[in-house]
Amino acid sequence: MVDYKSLGLVNTREMFKRAINGGYAIPAFNFNNMEQLQAIIKASSDLKSPVILQVSKGARNYANATLLRYMAQGAVAYAKELGCEHPEIALHLDHGDSFETCKSCVDYGFSSVMIDGSSLPYEENIALTKKVVDYAHQFDVTVEAELGVLAGVEDDVVAAESHYTKPEEVIDFATRTGCDSLAISIGTSHGAYKFTPEQCTRDPKTGKLIPPPLAFDVLDAIMEKLPGFPIVLHGSSSVPQEYVDIINEHGGKLPDAVGIPEEQLRKASKSAVCKINIDSDSRLAFTAAVRKTLAEKPGEFDPRKYCGPARDEMEKMYKHKITDVLGSDNKLAE
Ligand code: G3H
Ligand code: 13P
Ligand code: ZN
Repeated sequence: MVDYKSLGLVNTREMFKRAINGGYAIPAFNFNNMEQLQAIIKASSDLKSPVILQVSKGARNYANATLLRYMAQGAVAYAKELGCEHPEIALHLDHGDSFETCKSCVDYGFSSVMIDGSSLPYEENIALTKKVVDYAHQFDVTVEAELGVLAGVEDDVVAAESHYTKPEEVIDFATRTGCDSLAISIGTSHGAYKFTPEQCTRDPKTGKLIPPPLAFDVLDAIMEKLPGFPIVLHGSSSVPQEYVDIINEHGGKLPDAVGIPEEQLRKASKSAVCKINIDSDSRLAFTAAVRKTLAEKPGEFDPRKYCGPARDEMEKMYKHKITDVLGSDNKLAE
């Protein structure tokens, strides 16, 4: 059993409370490799932002669970080296699919876990979430739950259609499970293809897709039922067009990729939405930089020469999200 506090990590309770009161959101960035982790820590430390390092079950399998834990411990030391005396870094399991996965993460030093019972019938979601909460809270580990279904891939769970969270269920769900935060469905979606062209309109000048707006009325109704309760948005990459264009111009094929407009995320950040999940934008930044570098320097075969620019591009993107979208810069408690 590894106590996350001994690794220098924090759970999400205090950072969420301050984010709701302060009208900003904490970035939850997924990572699978060293370059992503370096870029996340550099961006959040330089900007004095609390940050959630998010790890999916797939990422744990890819990177090795033990190595990941030491990487998180190293991340805390790196943030201090960069001048953050008291970094606020949470290590969070993304889309935990079972009690066993969540328990394993709690036991491995995670400070926060998500149990994703959103594809289960309501009562089963409650029972599973409560079981995880009862275990995690013994160790002061915070728990995110999900109610409502996002379209797209959620690790091993694939949903063809989304179903908005029903505001009339949230009080019962939060009370009976004891969860610390709630991921909701208001129209965001995972991956780089969040909407089909049929769901969008097209800008007549550029031909680019304009996605449908998020359901802020559903968010408002949820906040009215659960005042001050931490709300989480998954599937919140904006799929920057410049990355999609670079990828497509250098041998890639991402037709009609479309994300959530940043103005809408900015608006959500000012509400009880206090955690915003971003993974695909990091993948796009990385891939765009690697494709461009290799296309321009076909003789290059030292991975540092193309992973380095990819890391720089991700850091730039993370800094933009922190400063210009979520507003979590200069929000460390120190
Ligand atoms: O919501 C899913 C995250 O983007 C993680 O994706 O399961 O491919 O690691 P992954
Ligand atoms: P994106 O695919 O929009 O980056 O969403 C990531 C996410 O929700 C991770 O849980
Ligand atoms: Zn997600």
